[in-house]
Amino acid sequence: MVNIKRTLITAEEISEKVKETGRYISEKYKDKPLLMVSILNGAFIFMADLCREVTVPCEIAFMAVKSYDGTRSTGNVEITRDIDKDISKYNVVIAEDIIDSGRTLSEITKILKERSPLSLEVITLLDKPARREVPFEADISLFTIPDAFVVGYGLDCNEQFRNLCYIAECAIE
Ligand code: IMP
Ligand code: MG
Repeated sequence: MVNIKRTLITAEEISEKVKETGRYISEKYKDKPLLMVSILNGAFIFMADLCREVTVPCEIAFMAVKSYDGTRSTGNVEITRDIDKDISKYNVVIAEDIIDSGRTLSEITKILKERSPLSLEVITLLDKPARREVPFEADISLFTIPDAFVVGYGLDCNEQFRNLCYIAECAIE
């Protein structure tokens, strides 16, 4: 059984930070070809809210990845849905839900850099630095959280709780 233990970040706190981040993106990428990319499924709500706070022209794309247990430290992420654009023409901003071990984003950024985007920036809603297994830092992290399993605002536990408007710590019993 999975239960909600406590609210960690309220909808209002999220909204305030998302607005601030939208202003930052709008300022930094005005007059530049901007492609915002999010990683499905967890980042779908973050992307939906963030891109609506961006007031400059931008395009949106999605990627999906499957993590699997591999013995090779660099080979644990498989792309199951890829960006259908030539990213060498864009300043790419990745909007991710959470950085945990760091494996997903360290692999994705490695793959995307090989495609020579004009620039690449990583913005994560949540960061759990205590859980890092490979060194990876986002350019911007909206919230740093303790080592707890969290759900809501797109994040799931066994596909449940993505629809919560806030971030909650969950207790698995
Ligand atoms: P990584 O360990 O940094 O590669 O993170 C991989 C993915 O695990 C994230 O993109 C999330 O989808 C998922 N994840 C990590 N921590 C949590 C959590 O606390 N709740 C829900 N999903 C999580
Ligand atoms: Mg994710």
